[in-house]
Amino acid sequence: MLDDLVRLRAHDPEAMEEKIREFPAQCLLAWERAGTLPLPVPAVPFRQVVIFGMGGSAIGADLVRALSEKDARVPLVVVRDYHAPAWVGPGTLAIGVSYSGTTEETLQALTAALAAGATPLALTTGGRLAELTRAAGGVVIPIAYQARPRAALAHLFLPLLRVLGRLGLVADRDGELRAAVAALQVRRATWLPETPTRRNEAKQLARWLARGLPVFVGSRHLVPVAWRWKGQLNENAKGWATVEMLPEMDHNAIVGLGLPRPVARQARVLFLSSPLLPERLRWREAATAALLTEAGVRHRRRAAAGQSLLADQLELVHLGDWVSYYLAALRGVDPTAMAPIDQLKAALAANEGR
Ligand code: PA5
Repeated sequence: MLDDLVRLRAHDPEAMEEKIREFPAQCLLAWERAGTLPLPVPAVPFRQVVIFGMGGSAIGADLVRALSEKDARVPLVVVRDYHAPAWVGPGTLAIGVSYSGTTEETLQALTAALAAGATPLALTTGGRLAELTRAAGGVVIPIAYQARPRAALAHLFLPLLRVLGRLGLVADRDGELRAAVAALQVRRATWLPETPTRRNEAKQLARWLARGLPVFVGSRHLVPVAWRWKGQLNENAKGWATVEMLPEMDHNAIVGLGLPRPVARQARVLFLSSPLLPERLRWREAATAALLTEAGVRHRRRAAAGQSLLADQLELVHLGDWVSYYLAALRGVDPTAMAPIDQLKAALAANEGR
């Protein structure tokens, strides 16, 4: 079925395939644009960065944070909630990320940060977030790409990385990004719809995950990539998926691998790995995999090429996007539709102020 392009596309009336296909090109475009944007001017030097966002608009911030753990010059915190941390103040760069610009948690948290004296920056298509930021004298990075938020990841991730790099708060990754995108253009050839299942890693992974409960395991710079796989399988493929992290899972989850039996039989554990992870973490992957085998839980490992931390993230994010797309087709669902989120947001808007 996945190799019949007419049947495959019949499940995709809003052309999610095109959005996924465009990802490497959009990465370059987003990067170029962010190289010339005006930068926020701090009243006092920035001492912290806080990024507010939810769902598809927050994952880019997580990727930046995980990528910059070793080179960020100030603490960088991602908040998925209605509040701003107590330490937010005049030395804080407070970034609101919301594709729509209307997400209530993000708006409320940024409003609190503004009240505490933070310098605002917004990454959005517009909405109240753009108004709020402009009214406070902040910079708005406009997103012009028309897509569901999760399909606009290039524009929700790379401008953050580039602007923070230009401000000197994280490392400059210009060369790394360009090399990563060039490599991705080559690597992804075997994940595209026109490549048949017998040679297509993404289609094969979708089939492996189709009848089970996917569990994605990440460590270090790949933790947010595991979350991205989960989110894409939830939203595109309309199913359950969950995340574990190493080394944390070795301190709890490994005790409960075998029960309840029906769950253990259904689980499909995918380790998202890289040769760039420290040897000790890779050793833990192998030891954890052995425990899964003992408990009768199916598992696989997919390592990125290890060209750079950023290249690893882009490679595995893009592979996961294709997997979610094929899994949607196997389940006969439209990868773009997301009625429950739209309905819940409408219900919340109707109940505003309560
Ligand atoms: O993928 C999605 O569409 C959601 O997870 C949204 O990103 C989330 O609801 C937040 O909305 P927005 O991205 O407009 O802030």
